[in-house]
Amino acid sequence: MKAFGFAAAVTLAAAVPVTAHNGVTDPVVMARMHGMKSLGMQLKTLGAMAKGERPFDAAAAQDALALLAEEAGRIPAQFRDKVTVPQSEARPAIWEDWDDFSARAEALRLAAAGLEIADADGLGPALRDLGGACKGCHSVHRE
Ligand code: HEC
Repeated sequence: MKAFGFAAAVTLAAAVPVTAHNGVTDPVVMARMHGMKSLGMQLKTLGAMAKGERPFDAAAAQDALALLAEEAGRIPAQFRDKVTVPQSEARPAIWEDWDDFSARAEALRLAAAGLEIADADGLGPALRDLGGACKGCHSVHRE
């Protein structure tokens, strides 16, 4: 793995924001925020292995990918109803261009479902693919 790629992937994994939106009571918004947080947790698991904070564990990496794919599959249902509260970072673009939003959710699901991380060297490229799918959607659909 190239040094630059590795560093970029590690930075990406560390930069995943984990914000606490206290005060949100709407169940729809809570559910979608919770789903996003659990995506963040899986990425963190992979990121910790990439940084050497925890030893590479192929089974744990594959579990994280499976959970990512499962959670990504829930995104369309979690966002289908247009619910907005002041604490939400969801942009109107989600519902104005639902096809784009749902295609990005599906792209993340397919990326996670299609990846296999055989060894520690596989973490960097996997994090780049996954992180790219998160970032691609956030840049358009999240404040
Ligand atoms: C299909 C679009 C899409 C994809 C793909 C996506 N997100 Fe999000 N994400 C959003 C939107 C929209 C919000 C804002 C939701 C809100 O505030 O109501 C968000 C919010 C978040 C939040 C903040 C949650 C909170 O508590 O407010 C985190 C963390 C997050 N995403 C992580 C991730 C990670 C990690 C990935 C990739 C593994 C990912 N997201 C993929 C659209 C997406």
